[in-house]
Amino acid sequence: MSVSASPSATGSEVAERLLVARGIRRSFGGLVAVNVEVFEVFEHEIVALIGPNGAGKTTFFNVLTGFERADAGEWSFAGASLTGKSAYRIARAGMVRTFQIPKALARMTVLDNMKLAATHQSGERVAVALVRPLWNAQDREVEARALDLLDWIGLADKRGDYAGTLSGGQRKLLELGRALMTEPRLVMLDEPTAGVNPSLTDQLLERIRGLRDRGLTVLFVEHDMDVVTSISDRVVCMAEGVVIAAGTPREVVTNDSVIDAYLGRSHGEHA
Ligand SMILES: Nc1ncnc2c1ncn2[C@@H]1O[C@H](COP(=O)(O)OP(=O)(O)OP(=O)(O)O)[C@@H](O)[C@H]1O
Ligand SMILES: [Mg+2]
Repeated sequence: MSVSASPSATGSEVAERLLVARGIRRSFGGLVAVNVEVFEVFEHEIVALIGPNGAGKTTFFNVLTGFERADAGEWSFAGASLTGKSAYRIARAGMVRTFQIPKALARMTVLDNMKLAATHQSGERVAVALVRPLWNAQDREVEARALDLLDWIGLADKRGDYAGTLSGGQRKLLELGRALMTEPRLVMLDEPTAGVNPSLTDQLLERIRGLRDRGLTVLFVEHDMDVVTSISDRVVCMAEGVVIAAGTPREVVTNDSVIDAYLGRSHGEHA
């Protein structure tokens, strides 16, 4: 099969390329951590990025989102070049990744965590802050959106609790909520279900599917193959920095290179 990280054409649907990356390279000393020739994400799909430990998945995420410099390569989002842009500019363009709740925010309420995630929008135009009634209107809008999203992710009754008191799974949901406050088009999640108990994992997966229904696009790194096959439209597998296979979940899990590099013959040897 082809190793181009693009979906096969499905019926008459013509998917729009949202993220296009070419020739992305990143080395650490003598180690080539990422060497991706072609990587594409189409609008409204859920794409899983899999591969063994050290394959370069997180580094690739970091490069795409501006948290790590690329040694070479070009990438664009919704038709606009993001090559060499700052993490801030990339997030503003609509490509947003989730982050662990930092220590300082653990001592703030869940609702304030959500509102703070949107503050860069009002903080940008200082003039708005000087016009009190307008600012209040915007503040109310942000709060309404935060409450809406908290309801949607199932944390509405936790809105007054300190973020630090949430369970691991609830924190993951809050991290997703915070990312959504920025109104992204593409949400990037690095191991969203790691350390989450099974019942909350189901809730989290339901919400990730729901993002696609809301018109968003999702790119996530995941080791749990049950999770990968249950929610992905397409799977891309990396090994030693390179994309070794891409296709439907079924195509990728039965691909010989993927089995050799990652899954093992029993599909249980990775962890
Ligand atoms: N800042 C760094 N300095 C030096 N080497 C690094 C750095 N970041 C990553 N690496 C190396 O680059 C390679 C790719 O690491 P990366 O974390 O991207 O892999 P990964 O696919 O996310 O792995 P995992 O599944 O374990 O999270 C590894 O060999 C790693 O040790
Ligand atoms: Mg990683």
